[in-house]
Amino acid sequence: MLKRGSVVKLVDGPRTETIPREEWPARLDALLENARNVHLLAPDGDVHARRSKKGKWLVSRGKASSSAPIAAAHDRTPQRALPQAHPLFAATHISHDKERQVQHYIELLRPLPIWGRERISVVDAGCGKAYMSLALVAYGREVGTRVELVGLDANAQVIEIMRGIANELGYDEARFEATTIDDYESDTPIDLLVSLHACDTATDDAIAAGVRLQAEAIVVAPCCHHELAAQIASNEKDGLLRHGLLLGRQADLVTDALRAAALETLGYRVDVIEFVSAEHTAKNLMLRAVRAPSATRAARARREYDELRDRWGVRPAIERALAVSHGR
Ligand SMILES: C[S@@+](CC[C@H](N)C(=O)[O-])C[C@H]1O[C@@H](n2cnc3c(N)ncnc32)[C@H](O)[C@@H]1O
Repeated sequence: MLKRGSVVKLVDGPRTETIPREEWPARLDALLENARNVHLLAPDGDVHARRSKKGKWLVSRGKASSSAPIAAAHDRTPQRALPQAHPLFAATHISHDKERQVQHYIELLRPLPIWGRERISVVDAGCGKAYMSLALVAYGREVGTRVELVGLDANAQVIEIMRGIANELGYDEARFEATTIDDYESDTPIDLLVSLHACDTATDDAIAAGVRLQAEAIVVAPCCHHELAAQIASNEKDGLLRHGLLLGRQADLVTDALRAAALETLGYRVDVIEFVSAEHTAKNLMLRAVRAPSATRAARARREYDELRDRWGVRPAIERALAVSHGR
């Protein structure tokens, strides 16, 4: 029983679907269409059915094989990374929608091999209002890892606001600096660099900063891409490039594919994943990279990088920021 009414939960391998009760009979018919055997375990008795060669169902009934009581409630209380009424949400004034995104963001960063340590250093490049990074601090407190956060932004005003919010939350492990990403230096290697929706090529600056600061993990969600669209636009037009919208989307894909390949050539293993659902924003792609040097992967990635760059005739910012290519 869910808030929106009674549903049937259908589990098929790793996929789970909830189907409204009224849609279930038709769905069940569809499921049975190709079935040959059915075993139904129900509280009032088991049912076994077998379809004969002529397509007739032969049904037999037996005693219930389970006496476990049936509960109508949802069978699993969702495990949120942060409690629902966490003070962070009030302090950062974010909507319920954004709260869900924050919880999901932590889920995406949980698999990184940095949790479980006593302390980790995190740099957020182009932090803006930094609620996602403050959520990492909050999550660190939940799991016993001190997240020493440095938020960087070129906008001094937003940095002032963030200092106030961190102060209000009592997060003495978070500090904020008004600086460009390129100008930031640290004496010691960091554990994680994050950069969410930093504008255009600021994502490349962020990746370069992660490499420069020897980050063990680099997580970026790119924002608007303009640079390669302009370079690709000067190529000879074909059925794809003739249309501005398609050209723009293609340029986004090429930009992020080159970034992923660049990170691989530099010794990172990269997952390209969906950050937030596409219904919230089209800028929903995330590169999640963890340092795991492999000469084979690096060689393959370098070949792919060069091939992709040459095929599209571009010279992306990531290449200017990092020595990733054999050159042309
Ligand atoms: C679209 S906002 C995203 C803010 C935040 N990361 C978020 O996801 O809500 C981009 C931020 O990046 C900052 N930014 C852009 N380029 C930068 C650079 N080169 N160095 C430092 N900050 C930069 C801007 O000032 C802005 O606050």
